[in-house]
Amino acid sequence: MSVTVVVGGQWGDEGKGKVVDILSEKSDIVVRYQGGANAGHTIQISGKKYVLHLIPSGILWDNVICVIGNGVVIDPVALLDEIKFLENNGISVKGRLFISQNAHLIMPYHKLIDSLNETGALKIGTTGKGIGPAYIDKYARKGIRIIDLLNRESLEQKIRRNLDEKNTLLKNIYHHTEMNVETIVNQYLEFDRQIDEYIKDVPTYLNKAIAEGKSVLLEGAQGSLLDVDFGTYPYVTSSSPTSGGACTGTGIPPNRISNVVAIVKAYTTRVGEGPFPTELLDETGELLRKTGFEFGATTGRPRRCGWFDAFLVRYSCMINGTNSVALTKLDVLDVLDEIKVCTGYKYNGKLLNAYPTDCDILANVEPVYETLPGWKSDTSKCLSYNDLPQNARDYIRFISEAAGMTTGMISVGPNREQTFYPG
Ligand code: GDP
Ligand code: IMO
Ligand code: MG
Repeated sequence: MSVTVVVGGQWGDEGKGKVVDILSEKSDIVVRYQGGANAGHTIQISGKKYVLHLIPSGILWDNVICVIGNGVVIDPVALLDEIKFLENNGISVKGRLFISQNAHLIMPYHKLIDSLNETGALKIGTTGKGIGPAYIDKYARKGIRIIDLLNRESLEQKIRRNLDEKNTLLKNIYHHTEMNVETIVNQYLEFDRQIDEYIKDVPTYLNKAIAEGKSVLLEGAQGSLLDVDFGTYPYVTSSSPTSGGACTGTGIPPNRISNVVAIVKAYTTRVGEGPFPTELLDETGELLRKTGFEFGATTGRPRRCGWFDAFLVRYSCMINGTNSVALTKLDVLDVLDEIKVCTGYKYNGKLLNAYPTDCDILANVEPVYETLPGWKSDTSKCLSYNDLPQNARDYIRFISEAAGMTTGMISVGPNREQTFYPG
């Protein structure tokens, strides 16, 4: 029996899809525990690319059960599209995809309000998938859950109550046309017909599976610095991507978690607004974006790129209780003559001893860098740690020590086989 949590160790897009797919080979069950279709997890197999938004990244292994936990906010349109995409590619989800009855639904008004909120100077740069507004309703105890789809009468009542409020907002605050209750109710009843077979009592199912000795992988979305509590608030997502969220988002108790793996990119990226101390706004940043193909898997937006931030990763490892790190995209650094690593921040001329949680401070810190020599050779064909050039091994050793992380898996390309372990 093992229960492993996989988290993003930075600002998302670290390569969770690739790593979860690989770890799924030896897992029985893979569970998503938070976020929604704001995630874009890429898996590449023999050059074919699969981008998953809601369905766990274990789905490509036909013996693996995939579960969407209560902590996820589900957009049925996105879910059904994804099921169709997989089935068109010969991957059947029937009998091995389950959805928590307690998961909340993203409603059309959530997506609309998300995009209407994103105008003006205070925008977060969200994915526009309705995530924030859906979690607002969840915590305001107004949300519509999967289980609500089973009762037509109360579903209609709940949607009507919500729309009364949202339409007032749409009309008076956003000066937008109002939404129609009947259209939404009929649309969601149709969804129920299509997803009924997947609905499950997930906590009971997962705890029984663990008691029977099954191996479970809990797949985080987004990244630790996008966590609503521990991230660069307010430039965060509205859920808990860190390892703590894996318990509340599934019903698996903390004393069942055996291992936490953080996925960390060999440099740093971020999408959307918010402070990014090691960001490169020059041609090196552009080179990383081009070489690493750093464009959002969900929105297509160019990702902001910068140097590896060991101070940030040390903080993220602390928050997550990380046992080991999977280091990804090392190959992207192949082209560089020199590589900088941020080991700490100075603020008002003084070295900070703890990661700042105030965005005004973060926006004004001065990163302290060490410069390491590049290796200027192709690592994407390396088959083992010993195949890596000495400078690449020195880089891994340096960042591991600086961030206080134990580097396990190393990834040098998007494909499954471009992966090995040190030593
Ligand atoms: P996720 O959200 O954490 O799953 O990451 P994304 O899928 O959004 O972004 C990671 C991107 O990097 C995807 O296009 C992956 O195919 C790709 N990728 C993953 N690992 C590696 C790697 O080691 N090297 C390279 N060059 N690309 C990688
Ligand atoms: P994966 O799982 C990177 C970012 C958005 C925005 C902020 C809030 O693929 O790593 P939201 O739509 O969640 O309200 O947006 O969070 N964001 C991500 N950035 N990867 C993601 O997911 C992200 N999901 C949300 O860009 O800055
Ligand atoms: Mg992504």
